[in-house]
Amino acid sequence: MCGIIGYVGTDRSDAADVLLHGLSQLEYRGYDSAGIALADGRLDVHKRQGELSALENALAGAEIGNKTTGIGHTRWSTHGPPSDRNAHPHTDAENRVAVVHNGIIENYQKLRDELTAEGVEFRSETDTEVIPHLIAGYLEDGLDHEAAFRAAIDRLEGSYAVAAVFAGSETVYAARHESPLVLGIADDGTYLASDVPAFIEFTDRVIYLEDGEFARLEGDEISVTDSEGRLVETSIETIEWDPEDAGKSGYDHYMRKEINEQPSALRDCFRGRLDELSGRVTLEEFDGFELTPPVTFVACGTSYHAALFGAQLFREWGVPAHAYLASEFEAEAMPIDADSVVVGVTQSGETADTLRALREASAAGATTVAVTNVVGSSAARETDRVLYIRAGPEISVAATKTFASQQAALTMLAAALSDHRSRELVQELRAVPDRIQSVLDEDAAREVASTYADAGAYFFIGRGYHYPVALEGALKMKEITYKHAEGFAAGELKHGPLALVTEQTPVFAIVTGDGRRAEKTIGNVKEVEARGTPVVAVTDGRSEVGRYADHVLEVPPAGEITSSMVANVQLQRVAYWTAHELGRSIDKPRNLAKSVTVE
Ligand code: AGP
Repeated sequence: MCGIIGYVGTDRSDAADVLLHGLSQLEYRGYDSAGIALADGRLDVHKRQGELSALENALAGAEIGNKTTGIGHTRWSTHGPPSDRNAHPHTDAENRVAVVHNGIIENYQKLRDELTAEGVEFRSETDTEVIPHLIAGYLEDGLDHEAAFRAAIDRLEGSYAVAAVFAGSETVYAARHESPLVLGIADDGTYLASDVPAFIEFTDRVIYLEDGEFARLEGDEISVTDSEGRLVETSIETIEWDPEDAGKSGYDHYMRKEINEQPSALRDCFRGRLDELSGRVTLEEFDGFELTPPVTFVACGTSYHAALFGAQLFREWGVPAHAYLASEFEAEAMPIDADSVVVGVTQSGETADTLRALREASAAGATTVAVTNVVGSSAARETDRVLYIRAGPEISVAATKTFASQQAALTMLAAALSDHRSRELVQELRAVPDRIQSVLDEDAAREVASTYADAGAYFFIGRGYHYPVALEGALKMKEITYKHAEGFAAGELKHGPLALVTEQTPVFAIVTGDGRRAEKTIGNVKEVEARGTPVVAVTDGRSEVGRYADHVLEVPPAGEITSSMVANVQLQRVAYWTAHELGRSIDKPRNLAKSVTVE
C-alpha cells in the first residue's frame, strides 16, 4: 500500500518539484515515509521517514540541481517498520538503479536468500529491495537497462506497480501486476503514477497500464509492451476530473470538504438514471443483464456497511441477497457457481480482500459486478459489469461522500435489477441532495460533538436501514477520534452491550418515521435513558423519541431508505467535529491508509 510516481520532462527540468507535488496528492495511500530519486549522470536519492513534509524540509537545504527525470514514493509499511532506511526508492550497491514499488513481493524471502548467498548486502527490511539487486545482477550479466528491468520483474511473484530509473539515463521503466498504474501524456513530458490526481494538474490524457504490461517513458514518448516484449496498442483516455476537485478548496480538511460535497456527488450519481414519470431506474450499464438470485455482496469497512444496506434493499424488493465481509468470503465454501451474481462494493476498486473475493467468485464461474468510484481500477476492469458511483476523488482516509454515493448507487441497482418501480422512491432519491444540504447548513452536530468530546465511549443504534448507518457512525467515530465506538442493531443492546452504557457513554439513536421499527427503537432508547445515559436522537421528529433524548439532530422527514442517507451525514459531522475538538489528524488517522491493497 503505497503511492508511486515517475516523470520524464521535455520542456522543464524541475523533476523534483513535479515529483513532490505528485506525492502530496498520493499521501492518502500511505504516509510512513517519502522519497525521490533523480536521474542524471548519477542517481540522487533523498528519502525520509514520516510525512512528505519531512522530505520537503530535508530537500529545502539540499543541492538538487536541475533534473528532468525521476521517480518518487510515499509508503504504507508492509515489510519493515517506517524508517529512513525502509523508505523508497531502493538502490543496488553501486547506485546504478533506483526502484519504487507499491504492492507485496510474495517470494521476496526466497529471492533475498538467493541474493544474499551471492554476496549482496541488504540495507533495508523491505520486500522491495530485492528488485534493484536483481536488476543489478542482470546488468552485470550484460543486459541493457530495459532487458535487466524486465528480467527482474519476471522473477517476482505477488502484486506490484514498479518504476525504475538508471544512472546515466533519462528513461523511466515501469511494470504492473495487480497494483494500479496509470500513465500521463503532457506537452512537457510523460508521467506515471498510482492514481490520476498525482499529475492531473499537468495533464488529463492517460493510459491505464494492464496487468503484465511494461511501460517505457522517454521524453514525450510512452511505449507499452506485453510480457513477451511485443508493442501493445494503447488507447489514450481523457480524465474529466478538474484539478480543483483534487485540492482542499479552502477547507481545513479533505474530510470536511468531502462531507460538504455530498449533495453534488449524489446529483452526479443520479444523473440520467432516474425517471420520475415511470418511477423506473435505468442503468444502461446493466442493459440485457439477467439477474439470477441470490445476490451476494462482498466488501470491507464502510463499503461493507453500504453492502449491508444494499442487500437489505434487494431482499425488500423480493430478491434474496446477503452481504459478506470480503475477508471472510470463500467461494469454495459457499454455494457460488455459474448461476451466482457476486457484487463487490469498493470505493477505490483496489482493496485486496474485495478483489480476492471477486476473483474467487469469477473463478467459480459467477457473474461479477463492481460498484466502485474509480474508473480504470482493478475491480472495474476485472468484473463483468461495473456500476460507477461517480462521487469524484475522495482523499480523506475516512470515507464519507463515497458511502452516500454507494447507498444511492445500490438503491438504484436494487430497484433496476428487481424491477421495482416507484415514483415515490425516485422523487425521494432526487430530493436527497437538498435534504443533505439542509443538514449541512446547521450547526447542531458541532454542538453535540463539543458536549461529548470527553466521553469515555460512543454507541450507535439503529434498526432496518438505519442499522448499517449505526455501524458506519461508529466506524467513522473510532477511525478519526481514536476513541471507542460501537454500532449495534438497536434490539441487540439488551442482549449484552447494555452493560457498557454509563453516564460517560452517549448513545446515538437513529429513529425516523413513526412505524413499527421506530417504536421498537424508542423502547431501546428508554432502556438506555433509564440508566442515566445521555441519548442523542437523530430523527425527523415524527416519533416521540425526542422526549427521551438529551439532544436532537434533525433530518428532514422522508422514507426510511433515503432518511438513512441523510441521518448518516449528521453522524459524519459529529465524528468530524469531535476529532477536530480533540486535535486529531483527521485526514490521515494513525495506522490507516485510504486503500488497503494487502490481505
Ligand atoms: C472507511 O472510512 C475506511 N477508510 C475503510 O473502512 C474503507 O471503507 C475500506 O478499507 C474499504 O475500502 P474500499 O471501499 O476502497 O474497498
